[in-house]
Amino acid sequence: MLERSAIAENALQALHDEDYDRPFNLQNLNHETMIFMGGRDVISLDGEWNFCVDLLDTGLRQKWFAMDPADPCDRQEPWDYDPYMGETVPVPSCWQMLQEKWYFFEGSAWYTRAVDFTPKADKRFFLRVGAAQYDCKVFLNGQFIGNHYGGSTPFFAELTDQLQQGRNWLMLCVNNVRTTDRVPMRNTDWFNYGGVYREVSLIETPKTLIRDLFVRLNPDPLVNDIDVSIAAEGADYARFEIAELGIAVDIPLEGGKGTASIPAAPLLWSPDRPKLYDVVLTAGGDRVCDRIGFRRIERRGRELFLNGRPLWLRGISVHEDDAVLGKVVTEDDLRRRYADAKQLGCNYVRLAHYPHHERAVALADEIGLLLWTEIPVYWAIDFDNPATLRDAENQLLEMVKRDRNRASVVIWSVGNENPDTDQRLAFMRHLADTARANDPTRLIAAACLVNHHKLKIEDRLAAHLDIIGINEYYGWYDEDFSELPKILANSQPDRPVVVSETGADADISDKGPKAGLFSETYQAEVYRSQIATLKELDFVRGMSPWILYDFRTERRQGIYQRGFNRKGLIAADKATRKEAFAILASFYHAMAEREAKEWETL
Ligand code: GCU
Repeated sequence: MLERSAIAENALQALHDEDYDRPFNLQNLNHETMIFMGGRDVISLDGEWNFCVDLLDTGLRQKWFAMDPADPCDRQEPWDYDPYMGETVPVPSCWQMLQEKWYFFEGSAWYTRAVDFTPKADKRFFLRVGAAQYDCKVFLNGQFIGNHYGGSTPFFAELTDQLQQGRNWLMLCVNNVRTTDRVPMRNTDWFNYGGVYREVSLIETPKTLIRDLFVRLNPDPLVNDIDVSIAAEGADYARFEIAELGIAVDIPLEGGKGTASIPAAPLLWSPDRPKLYDVVLTAGGDRVCDRIGFRRIERRGRELFLNGRPLWLRGISVHEDDAVLGKVVTEDDLRRRYADAKQLGCNYVRLAHYPHHERAVALADEIGLLLWTEIPVYWAIDFDNPATLRDAENQLLEMVKRDRNRASVVIWSVGNENPDTDQRLAFMRHLADTARANDPTRLIAAACLVNHHKLKIEDRLAAHLDIIGINEYYGWYDEDFSELPKILANSQPDRPVVVSETGADADISDKGPKAGLFSETYQAEVYRSQIATLKELDFVRGMSPWILYDFRTERRQGIYQRGFNRKGLIAADKATRKEAFAILASFYHAMAEREAKEWETL
């Protein structure tokens, strides 16, 4: 720890050093440092943490992380913040939802807690952070361990060699400032929550470590194999088991990697029959497990198929947002979200615009909903910046590695509503290729823009996608509804189109209008017109209207929006349904009944 003179020296230097954060931006905590989590015991580090907002990054400048824990009376020097005492906040949480004074705070904030520890010779220890918005720097006992970029995916830091017997001090410095190099960039239509808003834990593993396990049905419908890919450290082989299918296979590992194709005929997973199998993998002393469904999602020409059957995606979009908790999700909240989607008649949900909590994905596996998941390459992005590409690619790979055993996830989306420039094309084409290379079993999409001048779906990225998502707001942002049929008629896409967004705002509070824009009746009319138009088109293979619930966003401060986007079919209380809910529900339920009848005759 620092001596008296060093702290004084630090304080002086800190006043002039505008390059103070460079040593703390390694982004060394990324998809390569992930470990496979299924079935692991965790030591929760949730709860009250010492907390301090730090607008000017004084903590990095003055190296608060290197201070000695001491009784204030024993301190010989004045100090600006003592991380070992003071205000606390619950983790997980979003600081904006805790105190009015932090509602619009954007900057750095420090989280500090003690971790009492007893070393175990034959074990390894990893810190896991479910997600922290946006940049998270990790310090242990005054030492910088590393940092993670990206606000919606988990990251791991190995602490085996740094943890000491007895009391340890763990510090996280989280920064949610919107900058030009980040993903998303500075302008979004969702609230820029900040903080450690998903669970934090310490994970103990044996020296032998299973880093990754990817289990899927061979994508070729003619090949009834379960394909397995494993990454593990410190073992020569791994034993792969699915007891219910009588599978128990030893898979040799070379250079820590192993693959196998195992003949099998599992019951196929679908929203109507979300069948999951218990899968176990052991390697040396390490053992992980997972509950996995097997299904095939394909596109043939303009059509989609699930397990060989034609598929139309009856969907809705959702944000990870709550009027009280912000971005923190709870089991009840997720179950309500999916119950509302099922009552709407959905077989599909678009998780916008960033990876949602892993429980949202696992729960969709259990209750039977197909998912579109996405990384926040949203609107303007610094497509020319290699650091931004690295960040976007890392967020993609963390999402894929976290969720690729989830049967519910059928679509990886590499972005939303980006300008069709050469830089963007190269950037997002790279992401699409990266997703396909790391997972050939899912469809790749993006929410593309319509060319309103040529009245045509025209986006050069489409050629690199399996599904063309289009966001169109005819009847709302674009009044002339008659253009929509023309656009769709002018566009003869060679692959499925999913209307990834459509809709209209409706303020149903007593402040809302009874008619016209922002009224409930107006929204309902937009839905009637959209449904009437879209259902007539054979290449439209699904829709996920914008959006299930009203949600918080800084950029909407009008008299009817008041800091919320009110395009929800249900208000921000997640209870009050708007008229359009029933309109979409009757369309979806009728379609589901028709499909069920057709399948009976097949
Ligand atoms: C866009 C965007 C959404 C946004 C919506 C809206 O299409 O993708 O994030 O909230 O439009 O304007 O309501």
